[in-house]
Amino acid sequence: MSHDSMANVERKKVDTSALKGKPIVWIMGGPGSGKGTQCERVTMKFSFTHISSGDLLRAEVMSGTNRGMQLYKLMASGETVPNEIVDDILAEAMVRKADSKGFLIDGFPIDLEQAEAFVRDIGEPTAVIFFEANDHVLKDRLMARNNFDDTEDSIVKRINNFNSRTRPVVAKFSAKVVNAERSAVDIFADVEKIFATI
Ligand code: AP5
Repeated sequence: MSHDSMANVERKKVDTSALKGKPIVWIMGGPGSGKGTQCERVTMKFSFTHISSGDLLRAEVMSGTNRGMQLYKLMASGETVPNEIVDDILAEAMVRKADSKGFLIDGFPIDLEQAEAFVRDIGEPTAVIFFEANDHVLKDRLMARNNFDDTEDSIVKRINNFNSRTRPVVAKFSAKVVNAERSAVDIFADVEKIFATI
């Protein structure tokens, strides 16, 4: 399925005014770098709301809606989902939790276009955190898991996409870089220090 054919997927206009002034942290890193794992810990300790673009998209697929069935083919082959669909799904989830202390946006943005659309529609992120780990570490972690989108071909494609499309966002938004090749406990010690300043 081409991205052009996704243009027919119904879009929803979401009023994001309730999100103004809320701390928003983009959590970036290659597939399997431990973004979800660290977000769970931050949520427990700092009461931020964890919004994972990947989890939301997988949930949409599992819900069996028309939109979900169209997303399935893209995700199972390691393709990214068109920006406008990701934006709609993210904005809907954030507005549902508008009274939250702040938001962790996990696995987002995947490219400069997504980054700029978010800044335009919702606002600048308060901070950007990047979990750095080499490609072999990422692949080994994901091969040990059993998600429908964790086949070897899909993993390699996601890692390549990350390196070509997402890394430029890390540089442009001066992300705080955290070494993610350590234990989850050691990584969280650094993450905590960053959140103490937000
Ligand atoms: P997404 O779910 O974001 O996939 P991902 O980037 O591949 O990230 P993962 O959730 O697989 O890994 P993670 O970094 O959260 O690591 P985790 O903590 O789980 O996206 C899936 C798909 O959705 C994409 O391919 C794309 O199609 C689509 N999509 C998503 N966002 C999109 C967007 N913005 N725009 C368009 N399309 C989008 O850990 C991984 C494993 O490692 C776990 O088993 C964990 O137990 C283990 N682990 C974690 N930390 C450690 C550690 N420190 N040491 C050892 N093992 C660890």
